[in-house]
Amino acid sequence: MSEVSGKAFDLKLLRRVLAYTKPYKKLFYGGILLTILLGAVGTTRPILIKYTIDHFVMIPDAAGLLNYTLLMVFLLLVETILQFAFIYSANYLGQSVIRDIRVLLFEKLIKLRLSFFDKTPIGTLVTRAVSDIETIADIFAEGLLVIFGDLFKIAVMIGAMFYFFDWKLVLISLSVVPLLYFATRWFQRAIKVTFQDVRNQVARLNAFVQEHLSGMMIVQAFHREDAELIRFKAINKSHMDANIRSIWYFSIFLPIIEVLSAVSIGLAVWYGGISAAIGGQVTFGDLTAILIFINMLFRPLRQLADRFNTLQMGMVASERVLKLLDQEEKIQDHGELNPTEIRGEIEFKDVWFSYLPNEWILKGLSLKIKQGETLAIVGTTGAGKSTIINLVNRFYDIQKGQILLDGVDVRDYTLEGLRSQMALVLQDVFLFSDTIKENVTLGSPIPIEELNQAARLIGVDTLLDKLPGSWEFRVGERGGSLSSGQRQLLAFLRAYVSKPSVLILDEATSSIDTHTELLIQKAIDKLTEGRTSIIIAHRLATIQKADRILVMDHGQIIEEGNHAELIQKEGAYHRLYEMQFNKIEAEA
Ligand SMILES: Nc1ncnc2c1ncn2[C@@H]1O[C@H](COP(=O)(O)OP(=O)(O)OP(=O)(O)O)[C@@H](O)[C@H]1O
Ligand SMILES: [Mg+2]
Repeated sequence: MSEVSGKAFDLKLLRRVLAYTKPYKKLFYGGILLTILLGAVGTTRPILIKYTIDHFVMIPDAAGLLNYTLLMVFLLLVETILQFAFIYSANYLGQSVIRDIRVLLFEKLIKLRLSFFDKTPIGTLVTRAVSDIETIADIFAEGLLVIFGDLFKIAVMIGAMFYFFDWKLVLISLSVVPLLYFATRWFQRAIKVTFQDVRNQVARLNAFVQEHLSGMMIVQAFHREDAELIRFKAINKSHMDANIRSIWYFSIFLPIIEVLSAVSIGLAVWYGGISAAIGGQVTFGDLTAILIFINMLFRPLRQLADRFNTLQMGMVASERVLKLLDQEEKIQDHGELNPTEIRGEIEFKDVWFSYLPNEWILKGLSLKIKQGETLAIVGTTGAGKSTIINLVNRFYDIQKGQILLDGVDVRDYTLEGLRSQMALVLQDVFLFSDTIKENVTLGSPIPIEELNQAARLIGVDTLLDKLPGSWEFRVGERGGSLSSGQRQLLAFLRAYVSKPSVLILDEATSSIDTHTELLIQKAIDKLTEGRTSIIIAHRLATIQKADRILVMDHGQIIEEGNHAELIQKEGAYHRLYEMQFNKIEAEA
């Protein structure tokens, strides 16, 4: 909550939120008009009752009584229709506004640079895009318009009471209002704090459950079930406590209001009764009407505190969402080149790069990849291999130096132009919970014959034959229903069908069986055929045929050459090779 200004009411913020209602002006003003009409119609009812009692009951007149009763029934009907129209339009407005905001937010998120996601927890962003935005709808559905309507109605009713009835009767009946005001203020403050607490506890609960479901394998593998259950119970308990605290305030506040309302009615009956009995200014019609008014007044007054909180929570949510919408961490896309075809020459010129300020990962790296060449990069973990490929297609921008594609700085291409020339197979293969086909084509309209042919070439055809539904097989969330070797092959296929000029491949560390190893080997040969390729390999078998191999350590190239040359050199590569070779020997 610390990120949010504690101000009770921020007009600037409200104005920004209201700006989103602009496309729905008619709904917005229609809503205001409806609340005004509702206030007016609602107020007429007790007045009519007063008139009816005084003129047709006290002096019996059956025909007049019937007419006025019919009139009141008619007004009730009108009020019901207005009420319906209001609830419907206010909610429609709220939902329209949040639909728009949600699209804007997703549009924003999808274009932010990756470093933003490095430092923002995904859970937070999900909360912003889903539940925070939901809360914004309440500003319109339950907050702003309703509060305006209620206040308007209260004002009109009090005005009408003073106008139509003896002012002393009204004053005496309403003498509890100051008490009501203090009770409401107290309640509103108390409940605000507890509501925020409840929301925090819900967020904690969400995060805990989500994380533990995702990490279920680890929880079970390390026998953490009991320990995690204890932690869960604690969080769940705090969640309950927070809710109970808020219920506690409600259970005090609501009876207080009931008592005050009863006192108000009692005062009205007492003073009005005496006055009516001794034939004073107050009539029986007045007395009846004023009792109805008091009832009608207390209803919105009781809810006002709650509504103000709804409004305020909506504002807090708006502030967070708008802050995200204001995020300027977009990838700069000022380049203008949009090549239809490139040769695929890549050059790093004295490249300096760090993810975090002053923690240099690459310190003046230079390298050159010729058209059609297959360059392999090997090295210890954390050496900066994946970092290199993160830079070529501008997942991250470098701080110093230049990266050139076909002799042109990568920043001079449009992002789309640059990235459409490259295909990427990442170290962690990501699959959407969708069909295999969608996962491979990512929505591009590729004919099925072409897909089948590609699958044969890459060696995914046998896998497809095995899966029920073949291309239509739905992979579970994050590809859970496939093995990591299978996922990697699908990622290869995805890269292959996008027909890139440059292929970038970051091999997963996972060791795989010899059969899959062979499949992957074949697939890589096919993928790299006739195009510039950068391959990061953990299994050195993958890259023995590469044109050139770079050995990296601490962000620097320490060796360079082809497999035979590097083996002969008996340096770092040789050591890596020996290590893997011995490991394989040992395992065999
Ligand atoms: N998003 C990031 N934010 C901050 N630091 C990062 C980020 N990604 C990588 N690093 C750091 O950069 C260094 C190089 O990481 P990189 O992922 O390039 O290594 P790698 O050579 O690909 O290792 P591996 O063989 O394990 O895949 C590491 O020290 C890592 O901690
Ligand atoms: Mg890596």
